[in-house]
Amino acid sequence: MQYRKFGKTGETVSALGFGCMRLPILNEKSENIDVKRAEEMLNYAYEHGVTYFDTAYVYHRPMHQGISKGFSENVLGNCFQGAKREKIFYATKLPTFVIQSPDEFEKTLHESLTSLKTDRIDFYLAHSLTKQTWDRMIQMGMLEFLQKAKESGKVRHLGFSFHDELPVFKEIVDSFDWEFAQIQYNYLDIRVQAGTEGLHYAASKNLGMVIMEPLRGGKLAVTPTEEVRNIWKKSQYDRSMAQRGLLFVWDDPAVSVVLSGMSTLDQVKENVRSADSAIAGTLSDFERSLYAEARKAYWNRTVVPCTGCEYCLPCPAGVNIPSNLNIVNELAMFGDVTLSKGNYEFQPPSERSENCVQCGVCLTKCPQHIQIPDHLQKLTEQMK
Ligand SMILES: NC(=O)c1ccc[n+]([C@@H]2O[C@H](COP(=O)([O-])OP(=O)(O)OC[C@H]3O[C@@H](n4cnc5c(N)ncnc54)[C@H](OP(=O)(O)O)[C@@H]3O)[C@@H](O)[C@H]2O)c1
Repeated sequence: MQYRKFGKTGETVSALGFGCMRLPILNEKSENIDVKRAEEMLNYAYEHGVTYFDTAYVYHRPMHQGISKGFSENVLGNCFQGAKREKIFYATKLPTFVIQSPDEFEKTLHESLTSLKTDRIDFYLAHSLTKQTWDRMIQMGMLEFLQKAKESGKVRHLGFSFHDELPVFKEIVDSFDWEFAQIQYNYLDIRVQAGTEGLHYAASKNLGMVIMEPLRGGKLAVTPTEEVRNIWKKSQYDRSMAQRGLLFVWDDPAVSVVLSGMSTLDQVKENVRSADSAIAGTLSDFERSLYAEARKAYWNRTVVPCTGCEYCLPCPAGVNIPSNLNIVNELAMFGDVTLSKGNYEFQPPSERSENCVQCGVCLTKCPQHIQIPDHLQKLTEQMK
């Protein structure tokens, strides 16, 4: 295991972090964590040098029943009590999208501490900030609450996780004395959300940088299309797709810890092995050019020029149009029907493309002039 400095927190963390959002489950129910298998995976990671464990108030909550507290924190808290707890870092998150009034800040922090069976959270993040949640949280006094939580010792270091565009990211970085930030980043998404520019911007201000979705939620780990396979054949290294994805992110010295949401023990074993060579700046220029080629090949396969602007919403039939069009593109990029079906079914039933009544209201609103009803109809057929 390699270790890296974690920005202005002054801590040193393992280059591989365990993302506890995709623990193994029973009966396909997110809230039914397979505790025995999960503990086996967590303990293996612990014993092989992983020190950073990322969870959240909402991870492994019941799906499609509103947003409630999940069980991921509880599994961690039970697994790492006593001496083990002292050797690891817990990162968990204030559920900004759940909070409805200022008194819920303290309440949710207390619940996280209780579930984790600890008196302090090492890294506490404002979860999933967007322009909308950021503005709402500012008005509600979140920053004052976070500062007080730190002064009280319940929280040691403050950061945020992010899902919006680069200008919003920079605004948030510059608005508070954050010690670290967590962004989505992988070799496909170097210009998506914060992207490479945001990564380097925040790192230049000495924020510790945490990477989430390094394998794009698993899509970069599946067997790729023939075109992409042929690109990787040019590499002198025989690496798995998962290893290639992780090495790309670790290659950047701005990155401190890369979270992987591992869902099997074999994945933990492989990623722990990969983390032995997680040394920044070690990919050759030729290897880097292969990542660029693969990126181009994936993006060239997209079929819908949806920018996610949401002008098409609200749909009179309740369809979440950008989310479904995203699946259309993912299916074209990765060619993996099973994976896309998983994402399709992950959406609340009322938001799936099968609810489209072909009314055409969206056609009048889409600035890209996308033939939305046609794409939704085709997706519905493919997802049967
Ligand atoms: N704060 C936020 O807003 C936010 C948002 C997203 C994520 N996160 C955090 O970031 C963590 C990482 O994100 P992520 O879970 O999306 O990470 P990821 O690494 O992009 O995707 C994880 C998935 O990749 C696949 N995978 C991982 N290692 C593999 C291996 N060695 N071989 C084959 N497949 C492998 C697995 O897919 P299968 O399960 O399909 O096999 C796994 O579920 C999350 O777990 C969570 O803790 C935070």
